Amino acid sequence: MKILVTGVAGFIGSNFVYYYLSHHPERTIIGLDNLSYAGNLENLSLLSREEKAQFHFEKADITDPVRIKEIFSKYQIDGIINMAAETHVDRSIHDPQVFLKTNILGTHVLLEAAKNAWHSKNDGWKGGNKFLQVSTDEVYGALGPTGYFIESTPLDPHSPYSASKASADLVVKAYHDTYGMPVNITRCSNNYGPWQFPEKLIPLLIYNALQHKSIPVYGDGKQIRDWLYVEDHCRAIDLVYDGGRNGEIYNIGGNNERENIVIIKNILTLLREITGDPCINDSLITYVTDRPGHDRRYAIDSAKIKKDLQWVPQVSFEQGTVLTVNWYLDHQQWISNVTSGDYRKFYEKNYENRC
Ligand code: NAD
Ligand code: DAU
Repeated sequence: MKILVTGVAGFIGSNFVYYYLSHHPERTIIGLDNLSYAGNLENLSLLSREEKAQFHFEKADITDPVRIKEIFSKYQIDGIINMAAETHVDRSIHDPQVFLKTNILGTHVLLEAAKNAWHSKNDGWKGGNKFLQVSTDEVYGALGPTGYFIESTPLDPHSPYSASKASADLVVKAYHDTYGMPVNITRCSNNYGPWQFPEKLIPLLIYNALQHKSIPVYGDGKQIRDWLYVEDHCRAIDLVYDGGRNGEIYNIGGNNERENIVIIKNILTLLREITGDPCINDSLITYVTDRPGHDRRYAIDSAKIKKDLQWVPQVSFEQGTVLTVNWYLDHQQWISNVTSGDYRKFYEKNYENRC
């Protein structure tokens, strides 16, 4: 089985490649990424020799139909897991256009290529194919102090990022409803763990704290997110890909709601305990102007994926944060390659001149 996984050089994409190849040694991933600022092939540098044999990298942009068609001609692709996206809400506020292009039009390019490859006028859909769209809980908008998002909660996105993800979900649904394409959509809460680009809250705060730099807290810091360790998300995607009912949406959450300020203080304490550095303390916290349109609270009801696919998160927040903090402490060269921009050389050194 050959699966096209897009966004493999990003945070969740690279974690997914490790997870998937080690759990499915008989399958192959065609890993695609355009190596945007968030794409870093160093994230995949720990693949074993056996895993490398199961993995083919293609540098390509999902908004380029010619290149995507070429990839479909080169490999017989059985399924797609689409994770490629512009993902940072703050960037979407400053420059929405690339979000609309990649997240909506790019998803459409992939859907069209998949339809052309998998659907024939005479035989319909051959079977065994699937398009899995990796989406986000942000498409549902914000909750008040109580309640949970379920899969039928109306879409109510607020940022250009979440609006682009919600739009992509609707285009995927349209390909299912109109052409009968086999699809699933997953909507997950905030992930954390290894290889996350240090613009997102948890890696940013670890990076800043280690350098005794201030940690920006948006608004009053009392916004609530649900946090999920990335490996739990990867296992959920794997289960949905193999066992998700055709056309269904699955919410994926950690059942782990925390205020941002609580997360920040917890991680500062953990970092201080592990490093023994007394300068890593709450004095680094700096309240700054709030993010415009900032959603107050997200919380996910994951009962459906639990019932259908027996998925529940396995890593508690306490375990996950220790794993994450230790990972960043052990990979300071990775962080410094990212922050200095040196990570961009990884592709040239390791891939560009290969025939
Ligand atoms: P990321 O920004 O770390 O990675 C995204 C990857 O997509 C990068 O490697 C980037 O180079 C690639 N990419 C961007 N534009 C592309 C294009 N036009 N063509 C090909 N590749 C392109 O993001 P992430 O956190 O790993 O998120 C992955 C997916 O999961 C996204 O679809 C995101 O919306 C979704 N998601 C993320 C979270 C989270 O907490 N991180 C939660 C729920 C859903
Ligand atoms: O909910 C899932 C989403 O989680 C994904 O769809 C997005 O791709 C992913 O980026 C993430 O979005 P958030 O906006 O929630 O993540 P971020 O790490 O940017 O922010 C988490 C919270 O912390 C949010 O309420 C904003 C706040 N924040 C963030 C940063 C970077 C701060 O207070 N200070 C900061 O410096």
